[in-house]
Amino acid sequence: MSATYPALRLRRTRATDWSRRLHAETVLTPADLIWPLFIAEGQGVEEPVSSLPGVSRWSVDGIVARGREARDLGIPCVALFPNTPGHLRSDDGAEAVNPDNLMCRAIAALKDAVPEVGVLTDVALDPYTTHGHDGLVDAAGYVMNDATVEALVAQALNQAAAGSDIIAPSDMMDGRIGAIRGALESDGRHNVQVMSYAAKYASAFYGPFRDAVGSRGLLKGDKKTYQMDPANAEEALREVAADLAEGADSVMVKPGLPYLDIIMRVKAAFQVPVFAYSVSGEYAMIEASVAAGAGERDALVLETLMAFKRAGCSGVLTYHAAHAARLLGA
Ligand code: PBG
Repeated sequence: MSATYPALRLRRTRATDWSRRLHAETVLTPADLIWPLFIAEGQGVEEPVSSLPGVSRWSVDGIVARGREARDLGIPCVALFPNTPGHLRSDDGAEAVNPDNLMCRAIAALKDAVPEVGVLTDVALDPYTTHGHDGLVDAAGYVMNDATVEALVAQALNQAAAGSDIIAPSDMMDGRIGAIRGALESDGRHNVQVMSYAAKYASAFYGPFRDAVGSRGLLKGDKKTYQMDPANAEEALREVAADLAEGADSVMVKPGLPYLDIIMRVKAAFQVPVFAYSVSGEYAMIEASVAAGAGERDALVLETLMAFKRAGCSGVLTYHAAHAARLLGA
């Protein structure tokens, strides 16, 4: 039997800072963070993304500088997303398999300059297609599953050859994790990890990201035939089960904050490494609230990130990674 008031006073352990620290159930450190970075063509280029205040696209030299910054801040991994120049986009997104594309040049430059920082690369065709979809579309505009999986396998092998440490398919095609894992094994890339965007929802929170990779104006229709319905949770467990069975090393839930329940359920059901992608619209929400004087950035950022750890995440992809690491390292 537990005590009752007044023997029980839950405020006792909260009364001082040292005691609050001693009783903290969850810890957040820079090692919990993955920093998404947008790549621009050119040299010495920094292009601010207006819908993501404080976030820029960087040319490869700037990406390398961010990689060094990540290392110095104790951030273990960066995630790369290219803004492919318009003339290199096509219906079939063939630029995705060009060994000298923007993505591959950034991967190679990072692995050369800061090999101690992990490089995660997004696998999906949307930064390379003229229609903005993550896969190959048929005459009716439907994203074809099996043909897309073949293209994604080639894209993943291209990234792995450039030096990617974690292949992260974000496309939501059926069967792509097994196909990519099998191809990596056949290619001798046994230690290249696969982090599956396993439960990825058709969300209104991706708008600023689509600005950053230049696909917002191009996107025809929506992504509801492949990304998940926000109404569904049991389906998320089936997606995760399938991706784990196919060989995913870790799984992701995306977006983050509106889907904390999914994170908890996935962690409880599978006891595997779970990551959250706190997406562009979530970042923009915090920044808008700071700009409106409604909240204080540092506290909002740290409280949000702690929520992901408390829900069971191994780590979080967040555009606030460098800022948070600075706060945590101080
Ligand atoms: C596309 C992809 C998206 C994000 C990551 N990879 C957008 C989409 O599915 O349209 C979103 C990330 C963010 O909003 O920060 N494959």
